Amino acid sequence: MRMIDLIEKKQHGERLTDEEIKWMITGYTNETIPDYQMSAMAMAIYFKGMNDDERSALTMAMVESGDQIDLSEIEGIKVDKHSTGGVGDTTTLVLAPLVASVGVPVAKMSGRGLGHTGGTIDKLESIPGFHVELSQDEFSDLVNRNKVAVVGQSGNLTPADKKLYALRDVTSTVESIPLIASSIMSKKIAAGADAIVLDVKTGAGAFMKNQDQARELAETMVKIGDSVGRKTMAVISDMSQPLGNAIGNGLEVKEAIDTLKGQGPKDLTELCLALGSQMAYLGGAASSLEEARLKLEANLHNGKALEAFKTFVSSQGGEAAVADEPENILPKAAHQQDVKAEKSGKVSEITADQLGIAAMMLGAGRETKDSQIDLAAGLVLHKKVGDTVESGDIMASLYSNKPINEEIVSKVRQNIILSDQAKEPALIYDVIQ
Ligand code: URA
Ligand code: CA
Repeated sequence: MRMIDLIEKKQHGERLTDEEIKWMITGYTNETIPDYQMSAMAMAIYFKGMNDDERSALTMAMVESGDQIDLSEIEGIKVDKHSTGGVGDTTTLVLAPLVASVGVPVAKMSGRGLGHTGGTIDKLESIPGFHVELSQDEFSDLVNRNKVAVVGQSGNLTPADKKLYALRDVTSTVESIPLIASSIMSKKIAAGADAIVLDVKTGAGAFMKNQDQARELAETMVKIGDSVGRKTMAVISDMSQPLGNAIGNGLEVKEAIDTLKGQGPKDLTELCLALGSQMAYLGGAASSLEEARLKLEANLHNGKALEAFKTFVSSQGGEAAVADEPENILPKAAHQQDVKAEKSGKVSEITADQLGIAAMMLGAGRETKDSQIDLAAGLVLHKKVGDTVESGDIMASLYSNKPINEEIVSKVRQNIILSDQAKEPALIYDVIQ
């Protein structure tokens, strides 16, 4: 086979066979196919698309380009969740113990990553003692015993995706639905999931700015999953304002604990119940989404979800007392500053990505791989879109171990926009099964 022939085929909108796709991804991974040919192919795919068979073949070729995690030692149907990003997304911290509390195994591999706040692991590490360095056996044993464990990323998973994603980033070919869908699905499948729940975000703070694109991406990923034997469902959710109230590592742990006690922000609770219902249903804990939801709701109020969180935390070395007295155990910031409204009105918009940047400026995220995270840093919103504000009301509180400068305060104030009229946005636009 010759790469130039495959590029030409795709350039003319013809479909590539499974063998051609496998050959191309193998060659790209072991560097017999150079970046310049792969970038021409990515551009051809960007313009001409791929059909369902090609999308599935591309996904599996990327899965097979590296290691695959074997979770066969873990009993039950392993369900994983993926969110397409966003700001202050605390769902994983809530969902892992919540879904475990109804008996579905959550074997989560997580990363640190760059961004407005740390990854799930950074957030959990704001609990003193918590660690994610587990051997494969310890990980399986913990999931079998407690139904939940989180381990740091290890192994050489989907190297083809790593190379291709970096290439797409510099060749303006990121925003292609077949390429995004295969990239995301390959990582989940390589990590060993039997079933996958996707949270596809739409809005200013998200990757997919409009609902139609988000729906197409979600439908594509569900089809890919089902075609390769992984039951997949998706929720399309709003990311036009941050999810929940907290953005920041320790602050989000506190928010997750509140939510597991049934006292969390309304939007975060609702999204966790929607995603959790799909996870519980796919994991076999209920025979319908409605039944799954009732079980989860019950566990948020009867203490079982919180109990699962405590067991999870203490099994990985963390202080479980964090669940009862988070303010005494989570890291405290040396500086706090409230952002007050300078006029009255209704909150019509909270620009999610800009508040994410503000949280990062306070120290909550990493700008480069080597930046240090301030686990106490970030912000808490006291108002959300649709709320009424009087001049002088506190709209947000900022936390940092560095002195908080006026630039950050005014950035937050400017991005909580007040108007005469505003209404609460929808949170969940669609559910795809
Ligand atoms: N996230 C991914 O993992 N891959 C993409 O292509 C886009 C977003
Ligand atoms: Ca949050």
